[in-house]
Amino acid sequence: MSLWNKHQVFEKNSFVLLVGILVAVAVGGLVEIAPLFYLKSTIEKTEGMRPYTPLELAGRNIYIREGCYLCHSQMVRPMRDELERYGHFSLAAESMYDHPFQWGSKRTGPDLARVGGKYSDDWHVEHLINPRSLVPASIMPGYPFLAENKLDTRDIASHLTVNTYVGVPYTEEQIKNAKTDLLGQAMPDTDAAYDFEERWPTATVRSFDGDPKVVTEMDALVAYLQVLGTMVDFSIYDDKANAR
Ligand code: HEC
Repeated sequence: MSLWNKHQVFEKNSFVLLVGILVAVAVGGLVEIAPLFYLKSTIEKTEGMRPYTPLELAGRNIYIREGCYLCHSQMVRPMRDELERYGHFSLAAESMYDHPFQWGSKRTGPDLARVGGKYSDDWHVEHLINPRSLVPASIMPGYPFLAENKLDTRDIASHLTVNTYVGVPYTEEQIKNAKTDLLGQAMPDTDAAYDFEERWPTATVRSFDGDPKVVTEMDALVAYLQVLGTMVDFSIYDDKANAR
């Protein structure tokens, strides 16, 4: 029997063809999916990445509550115009502790993945209170109430705990001290600030909204914006290191 004769069994009988297709797709699917069960993670470990501090996490919650993501994406794509405007393209590892991630594709305003350190804290405070005082043609809404609202700290430990359920490695100690660490990060020269620095050596303590006496929603949001895109040091990051 020639090869054609064997193959016509499939071509002339739709049921046999269907079974054949199922077998082919199942094998192909397994080859793609099975390795994922044996990989610990599909995200490369990248130096510098740490979970958000309680204050930054509270700021992130406000970012989501206020719908900032409706106008701002957080992902620099690897294309020349984006690299020149925003800096190094985003790495998967940079959003590994974001639940849910804030990549997005709607850019009414600029991408914010690398906005950390681009402006001073004062600039952000002023801009969030009234964007047009700094960027006259801005269509971004003002959020002046953030500077007045005291930050609600009651549930911050639960927010850390919930993040551990989806794999964010907060320690028991960090969860237990979440509330004092939250206050400490925004209140320099207090006992809470010194304790915070011991638990979070790579985070910065300062009064983000300029008033160290009360911790407001503005403190939290600015702390969050200022850490975006700054955890990985791209002056020493080698994107070929893992490929070797
Ligand atoms: C209606 C759309 C819209 C919303 C909602 C919005 N923004 Fe904006 N945002 C803009 C636009 C447009 C600009 C560019 C003009 C400017 O700088 O004000 C901008 C600029 C910015 C910048 C400066 C970025 C840069 O690189 O210059 C920051 C930071 C920012 N927004 C943060 C926020 C935060 C935080 C929120 C939520 C509290 C928010 N935005 C909500 C439209 C928006």
